[in-house]
Amino acid sequence: MTTSTRRIAGALAAATVSHPEPDAVEGTSAVVGGLPEPRRISIALEDVSKVYPNGRRALADVDLAVPDGDFVFLVGPSGAGKTTLIKLLIRDEVATSGTVFVAGRDVSRLSRREVPKLRRRIGIVFQDYRLLPNKSVRENVAFALEVTGTPGRQIRPAVERVLALVGLTAQGDQLPTQLSGGEQQRTAIARALVHEPRVIIADEPTGNLDPLISWEIIQLLLRINELGTTVLMATHNAEVVTALRRRVVALEDGRVVRDEVGGYHREY
Ligand SMILES: Nc1ncnc2c1ncn2[C@@H]1O[C@H](COP(=O)(O)OP(=O)(O)OP(=O)(O)O)[C@@H](O)[C@H]1O
Ligand SMILES: [Mg+2]
Repeated sequence: MTTSTRRIAGALAAATVSHPEPDAVEGTSAVVGGLPEPRRISIALEDVSKVYPNGRRALADVDLAVPDGDFVFLVGPSGAGKTTLIKLLIRDEVATSGTVFVAGRDVSRLSRREVPKLRRRIGIVFQDYRLLPNKSVRENVAFALEVTGTPGRQIRPAVERVLALVGLTAQGDQLPTQLSGGEQQRTAIARALVHEPRVIIADEPTGNLDPLISWEIIQLLLRINELGTTVLMATHNAEVVTALRRRVVALEDGRVVRDEVGGYHREY
């Protein structure tokens, strides 16, 4: 292990402490190295459908279980329902029927007051970064903790830890307009991680980035996953998905048409 890898690993280990709260959904069994081992469920959709007010059915009868520690690509053509599924997970939209569990919570039953608590247990990354333009990298990341009332003395070390993790310590005082696209996305990932979430949910995080920088972002998400954080990532990046041989959930017309380890396209 190189020094920098060790530093990242140490920072990540600190960023992925276990979450002691009891879970609403437990007891799934995953086969690891041939032996069954219980793993908690990070994300579970049970018979979920979503019909928008205009009558458009964006998801139909979706069942999906993502155990803690999984890395899942969510793929499918434009309009297949990927963003809708993610919106249900973060309670941006509510399912028309079925249940959605995230990090141990039945998302559709949360009161308005409980939604921010859910969002603290998940890290969310978007294609367009969504950084605050008048705040520096450090301030953008710190702001995520400030709004949740984290004591000031805890904010600085937490921010520095995640900036080191994403490799942005040197750019910490720059504004988003002074960063490359890849650096802006790494800032957004640092912001998503600073709460030590159990799950990172990313909607086309490499959609605005060139292929080389996309690979860097994917490598960062893989490292975060290796140290224990579940990752669900919607993407159109066929090259990355096919190269990595991870779990691929494919949606078409609002239905799960494939859920297996493999490539971007169905393989026969
Ligand atoms: N707020 C909305 N009201 C009505 N229909 C919507 C709304 N949001 C999305 N849709 C429709 O739901 C379907 C699924 O959209 P969604 O954004 O989930 O697709 P997607 O898989 O993320 O596509 P893309 O790859 O282009 O991002 C589409 O037909 C879309 O037009
Ligand atoms: Mg989308």
